[in-house]
Amino acid sequence: MTTATLAATATPPGPSPRLAWPRLFAFNRDPIGFTMAMARTYGDVAAYQLGPQPFALLSNPEDIRDVLVTNNRNFVKGVGLARAKRLLGEGLLTSEGDFWRRQRRLAQPAFHRQRIAGYANTMVAYAERHASRWQPGDTRDIAEEMMALTLAIVGKTLFDSDVEGEASEVGAALNDAIALFSDSNRLLMILAEQVGIQQNARLAQTRNRLDAIIYRMIDEHRASGDDRGDLLSMLLQAHDAEGDGSGMTDQQVRDEALTIFLAGHETTANALTWTFYLLSQNPTVAQQLYAELDAVLGKRLPTMDDLPQLHYTDMVIHESMRLYPPAWIIGRRALNDFTAGGYRIPANTTVLMSQWQVQHDPRFFPDPYRFDPLRWLPEARSRRHKYSYFPFGGGPRQCIGEQFALMEMVLVLATLARRWRLHLVPGHPVTLQPSITLRPKHGMRMRLERRHSHG
Ligand code: HEM
Repeated sequence: MTTATLAATATPPGPSPRLAWPRLFAFNRDPIGFTMAMARTYGDVAAYQLGPQPFALLSNPEDIRDVLVTNNRNFVKGVGLARAKRLLGEGLLTSEGDFWRRQRRLAQPAFHRQRIAGYANTMVAYAERHASRWQPGDTRDIAEEMMALTLAIVGKTLFDSDVEGEASEVGAALNDAIALFSDSNRLLMILAEQVGIQQNARLAQTRNRLDAIIYRMIDEHRASGDDRGDLLSMLLQAHDAEGDGSGMTDQQVRDEALTIFLAGHETTANALTWTFYLLSQNPTVAQQLYAELDAVLGKRLPTMDDLPQLHYTDMVIHESMRLYPPAWIIGRRALNDFTAGGYRIPANTTVLMSQWQVQHDPRFFPDPYRFDPLRWLPEARSRRHKYSYFPFGGGPRQCIGEQFALMEMVLVLATLARRWRLHLVPGHPVTLQPSITLRPKHGMRMRLERRHSHG
């Protein structure tokens, strides 16, 4: 700690603790609106209590970097994890400390750039196969479609399983699991941390369904013994060269596989859904995207080698995740007192950093609600603070699937948009549902138009 940080004694501004309970309900009703209002009213460091729990919302990229990167050892994830652990066990999202560090080392090679490059063809082929069921004039729920597509892609790349039936079984169980953590349960999650509410029967049931499928896949992989090129093979083969040289137990592989399955499809599906929505509302941007796809791909399907040429497609994805960050808030619990923006924040405070809030801040993104992919031109980008945009988090606990997700989103968007233009069905209500990820509450009903038919 520097002298300056030690000297900071001022308490951050915020509302009086007296209304902590009504405030918890206000947060639960509209978490994004509530979070924006706190930052707007109290500034870059806002302290408030929700029910029994003290929170500090940090909205300055420098403070966010401090928590996620520079002083990351002073923070644990903590928030809401007890409940998530009952489903995910000690997977990468939920574990902490030395155990997490070892697992991250073991899992990292599975996300190596070269390894991931091998999944590009699967991503394109699955997107193309999915769209082969589309008919011009059809109306579809694109949120559901993208969820099915990204689930199938993760199923193939993670489990080397092309059995769509199985993927949808896992998908249905995962959806149940997500529902357990969303909306009405958010309140429960905050309280559960305090009073240790026991898991309910539904969660146990969901877990059993998922376990049966995943353990069978692990058994099959172990029995065949060879590297099938999928993530599960990598996890089974991983050895901790820096540690005692041992690998993962079946239970650990199960926790990681399930975590990656859950973390890896819903986020990407939401990002793609919001992207199609934004394109439907911004025809000029859509035209520019089509022009790039036509110029780079002509009549071909995209491949890994096209990625460096698909600049605009890449910028569309980045801008879409700015406006609709699939993970809209990150939390950490402080182990010791720390300072942010010159204020002292006590140990045990839950620190919140909201991608939604920061990425809509006009100080970093003028006219913040405008969808403008050109914000991602290198010059514009280099003028901004790195942590004014953090859809994948940051520091040692940054999303392990970032490269996988970026590649998947660009390739899937390119494959689908080269042939299809999607129009929002008039009157369809577009509402945010900020649960674990940012979903469209009523799905996204869109009408399919064939752009032009080639080959
Ligand atoms: C657009 C897509 C995605 C977004 C926006 C996203 C976002 C995030 C964020 C914000 C975190 C950090 C959470 C925190 O610090 O509290 C995270 C962690 C993680 N993500 Fe992603 N993610 C995406 C896709 C994926 C994919 C495709 C995979 C796997 C195939 C994945 C696997 C993980 C895992 C395992 C972690 C935990 C990492 C650790 O703590 O070591 N994610 N993700």
